[in-house]
Amino acid sequence: MSEHILKDGRTLILRDPTPDDAQELIDYLKIVGSETDFLLADENGIEGLTLEGEQGWITSTLESPNTKMFIGTIDGEIVLVCDVRAAGRMRIAHVGSIAITIKRAYWHLGIGKIAMQAMIDFAKSTGVLRSLSLEVREGNERAISLYQRFDFVEIGRHKARINVRGTYFDEILMDLDLTQPAK
Ligand SMILES: CC(C)(COP(=O)(O)OP(=O)(O)OC[C@H]1O[C@@H](n2cnc3c(N)ncnc32)[C@H](O)[C@@H]1OP(=O)(O)O)[C@@H](O)C(=O)NCCC(=O)NCCS
Repeated sequence: MSEHILKDGRTLILRDPTPDDAQELIDYLKIVGSETDFLLADENGIEGLTLEGEQGWITSTLESPNTKMFIGTIDGEIVLVCDVRAAGRMRIAHVGSIAITIKRAYWHLGIGKIAMQAMIDFAKSTGVLRSLSLEVREGNERAISLYQRFDFVEIGRHKARINVRGTYFDEILMDLDLTQPAK
C-alpha cells in the first residue's frame, strides 16, 4: 500500500485488490465505460461478468506471477484501476501488458502519472519483465501524451479495429523497453 498527496490536497491510496472489492469493481467498470468512448467497455461494463467471475479474476490476478493490479481509492471510493499482466506463455513471459482507467471526476489530478510510475516500478522490480505493451484508441490524446511521457513509443496500428457506434477507429500499439534507462 502507498499514499500519494494529489494536486488538490486529497490523498490517493494505492493498494492490492481483494475479492471483497468485486461488486464495487463491477459497478466501477460500468461507470468508467459510460464516461468515455476510449475504452472497450461501455456503460454495460464487461458483458456477462458475474460477482463470482470478478472474484475469481481478482484471485487469479493475485496468484499470477509478475502480474499486479492496483486499486486507487480516495476517501474509500475506488477512483483508479490499473494493472500489469505478464504474458502466460514461456517464450513471451518477459512481456507485460498494462491497462489504466480513472473515474472522470478524478482526471487532471496527476493520478495517471502516479499509476504509470507504480506499474513501471513494479514491472522493473520483477527482474523478469523486459518490456511493456499497451493499446490505445486513436484520438485519446490525454492517454497517448501520458504514455509518451513515460517513454512508450508507437510501434504500429490495427487499422479500423475499434467500432464505437458505427465509427471505426485505429488501435495504436505502444511499447516501453524496460531494459533501457528512463530518458
Ligand atoms: C488517460 C488517463 C488515465 C489520464 O489520467 P489523468 O490522471 O487525467 O492524467 P494526469 O493528471 O496524471 O496527467 C498526466 C499527463 O497527461 C497529459 N494530459 C493531461 N491533460 C491533458 C490534455 N487535456 N490533453 C493532452 N494531454 C493531457 C499530460 O502529459 C499530463 O501531464 P502534466 O499534468 O504534467 O501536464 C485518464 O484520463 C483516463 O482514465 N481516461 C479514460 C480511460 C482511458 O482512456 N484509459 C486509457 C485507455 S488506453
